[in-house]
Amino acid sequence: MRISKFFLPLLKETPAEAQIISHRLMLRAGLIRQEAAGIYSWLPLGFRVLKKIEQIIREEMDRAGAIEMLMPTLQLADIWRESGRYDAYGPEMLRIKDRHERELLYGPTNEEMITGIFRAYVKSYKGLPKNLYHMQWKFRDEQRPRFGVMRGREFLMKDAYSFDLTKEDARKSYNRMYVAYLRTFARMGLKTIPMRAETGPIGGDLSHEFIVLADTGESGVFCHKDLLDMPIPPENVDFDGDLEPIVRQRTSLYAATEDVHDQARFEQEVPAEKRLAARGIEVGQIFYFGTKYSEPMKAVVAGPDGKDVAVESGSYGIGVSRLLGAIIEASHDDNGIIWPESVAPFRVGLINIRVGDENCDRVSNEIYAKLTKSGVETLYDDTPESAGKKFSGMDLIGLPWQVVVGPKGVAAGVIELKNRRTGEKVELSPEALMGKFIDGYSAV
Ligand SMILES: Nc1ncnc2c1ncn2[C@@H]1O[C@H](COP(=O)(O)OP(=O)(O)O)[C@@H](O)[C@H]1O
Ligand SMILES: [Mg+2]
Repeated sequence: MRISKFFLPLLKETPAEAQIISHRLMLRAGLIRQEAAGIYSWLPLGFRVLKKIEQIIREEMDRAGAIEMLMPTLQLADIWRESGRYDAYGPEMLRIKDRHERELLYGPTNEEMITGIFRAYVKSYKGLPKNLYHMQWKFRDEQRPRFGVMRGREFLMKDAYSFDLTKEDARKSYNRMYVAYLRTFARMGLKTIPMRAETGPIGGDLSHEFIVLADTGESGVFCHKDLLDMPIPPENVDFDGDLEPIVRQRTSLYAATEDVHDQARFEQEVPAEKRLAARGIEVGQIFYFGTKYSEPMKAVVAGPDGKDVAVESGSYGIGVSRLLGAIIEASHDDNGIIWPESVAPFRVGLINIRVGDENCDRVSNEIYAKLTKSGVETLYDDTPESAGKKFSGMDLIGLPWQVVVGPKGVAAGVIELKNRRTGEKVELSPEALMGKFIDGYSAV
């Protein structure tokens, strides 16, 4: 993509309303624009990151055996009356009436709807286990939307729902999501710690929040420090096998959010030098809630003995849009964002510092054409701005690699490659550059 043809509105000034660094950087780097309190437009650069994050989540959910679908944002109030949550949910629910005076709501979550879908089609235990998920916008009329996409009113969530015949099977489904979450967040460059958590309005008795440690996080958290350095389950982890050892390795160490924290137990179980009391960002939460919805909504299947059984369920959320904020909180410096390669909006930022110079233009155009043709996502700064402005803009938007083409280098047959994270710079020939970014590249 050429910046001259792109839509990249960078802000010079730090917007006054943004209190935390990720929100400031998201506004300054032209990722989002606020449309109303807690409601954002995703500008092209931010949209690209959102799609990358979605894709990682999708791959890991699919690997764990979950099946993607899509449910609407608007739901009928009636189905929420079946579970008893329509009245219980309170002012966070945005309630709407259509022209026929029918009561609708903008979904804050989808337990009722998915249970309605499940019970309409699955009648026998032979159709189990099932885990269905979607990524869809949610609306919660938060009292205090703040910190940009971290606590929005409209936000993108991945929510999965599992259905099993027995509690033991439901536990296996829970473990699959637990392990999939560890992999998902690690692939985005995030270190997350699963912590015991309150179940909230979703209900049930087993829940973990996946927490990214950050001073700006909204939750107080307490855990054993060894949880910071646990190995991430590999890509070939067997989701049909026994995942209990992986889960137990973590759950045997103390980790709790402030809502369920027990200071006496913490001090008893964790030696003083291993105690970590910190703040964190909740990027995902998983719940096992048994028959909380299947009972009242009569989602039953015929068991092996022919008798009807209410299915055992859990739900599994990830804050897709919140993740942009969390990743930036975890990965930035004074000059701007530092995207991990896996979610970067482009992999390479190509800076031509002397646009209009015949040689610089030729070399830049060649590099741009070759990288793009080979599928290396490249943002090419071909604008007539000053070199200083280009450098600071490129640092701000945080692409992992910067390639600088200038007259001196071009005369000497080299260009400069900078690693945004380390700041390390090397000079190399355009051919060597291609070899670095294009698998199996050969000059001919
Ligand atoms: N207001 C919000 N803005 C952005 N993301 C949110 C918001 N509320 C929840 N999320 C994300 O969605 C995930 C699943 O939501 P859930 O756990 O049901 O909500 P809550 O944490 O409010 O009980 C959370 O872990 C969080 O990452
Ligand atoms: Mg939660």
